Amino acid sequence: MAMKLKRKTPVPAKGNAKDHIRVMISRERIQKRIREMARQIRKDFPDEPLHLVAVLKGSVFFLTDLARRIPGNISIDFIAVSSYGNSTQSSGEVKLTRDLDSSIEGKTVILVEDILDTGMTMQYLLRVFEQRKPKRLLVAALLDKPGRRLTAVRADYVGFTIPNEFVVGYGLDYAERYRNIPDVGVLKLITDSPKPAKSK
Ligand code: PRP
Repeated sequence: MAMKLKRKTPVPAKGNAKDHIRVMISRERIQKRIREMARQIRKDFPDEPLHLVAVLKGSVFFLTDLARRIPGNISIDFIAVSSYGNSTQSSGEVKLTRDLDSSIEGKTVILVEDILDTGMTMQYLLRVFEQRKPKRLLVAALLDKPGRRLTAVRADYVGFTIPNEFVVGYGLDYAERYRNIPDVGVLKLITDSPKPAKSK
């Protein structure tokens, strides 16, 4: 099993109603970029059926928008992995927790990820998928955070290259929150600090 570093930060347990999210990539820019990526993908494979595989859960948002923008023959499937060990600290093992419904043998497969962070998840998935003999295996990642990379993996299609900041929204969560925000933003956690003592 490959080791995986958790994307999640070891800060207070849950999102707070007062947490602040600074928009990094607006919903308009996301949708415009996805239209461009879809056009490029179809241009690269004009006549081929394309099999899109989303890595649950965060990538579902990107998959559904991307799939709707690629004309022609598209099929979709889902896979899930989980990491083990201390869920808030840096290490864990990648394990397949939900496998594909159908075989990928002989298919042109595009693995769809919301974010490439350390690259450990993708390294593991590429190894698993390559053993199943697809015709071609490609990676589309909406976000790429090369500053965190611990492996040599790279995406064939990248939406945005971003700096090393903790982002949420458009599928990305913090403690399962904020996936439904249509923009990608930087999360600033507001912690409830003890009230200062009253001065006399
Ligand atoms: C995120 C993201 C990728 C992975 C990338 O998933 O969706 O699958 O982390 O990180 P890596 O490059 O460091 O391996 P997460 O484990 O947060 O699960 P989720 O999609 O269910 O939120």
